[in-house]
Amino acid sequence: MSSPELWDTRHREVLNKPQACAVLRQHSDHLPQRGQALDLACGRGGNALWLARRGLTVHAWDYSETGIQYLCAEAEKHHLTIQAEVRDVVLEPPEAEQFDLLVVSHFLDRSLMPVLLAAVRPGGLLYYQTFLVGHSGPGPRNPDFLLRPGELSGYCVNWEILHSLEQDGQAQLVARR
Ligand SMILES: C[S@@+](CC[C@H](N)C(=O)[O-])C[C@H]1O[C@@H](n2cnc3c(N)ncnc32)[C@H](O)[C@@H]1O
Repeated sequence: MSSPELWDTRHREVLNKPQACAVLRQHSDHLPQRGQALDLACGRGGNALWLARRGLTVHAWDYSETGIQYLCAEAEKHHLTIQAEVRDVVLEPPEAEQFDLLVVSHFLDRSLMPVLLAAVRPGGLLYYQTFLVGHSGPGPRNPDFLLRPGELSGYCVNWEILHSLEQDGQAQLVARR
């Protein structure tokens, strides 16, 4: 089960600073210098803060008010502009070709995949990282939230795959539409 209230509680209990996901930090050479980026299901916004520091125009959406409040406070403290929104991304997904860069980390809703891929402009980038079936660390156990081997790159038919890795219980992908 997942709900905004449950995620509010989790985000309230965490003490560490949110980090950008590894795929973003380790494969930043592909990133554009400018453009519209979305950190989807951003939580406390580790990806969003990191992208804003690099000069992108950043949007960050999550249905947890606590996560978005934390992100807004951090952005203000560091004089970063981020368009953060409390938003259920299943009920209100992005529009087609809305973003130059879409980042998704540690979130999976298979029903959304076609809409997410369509939200990336032609020539734009998708950075995705989340848990694989059988992972042994902290994180979800429900198979609905776990990728099968090969699944992530399999969604990106006719995309240019710039990086794909399945290791240590997580899948990473960088792909250009
Ligand atoms: C494991 S956290 C990941 C947060 C962040 N992306 C990260 O990697 O640290 C999953 C996030 O997905 C959000 N989430 C789950 N379902 C959602 C939905 N339908 N709409 C918006 N956010 C959702 C939760 O509120 C939570 O912040």
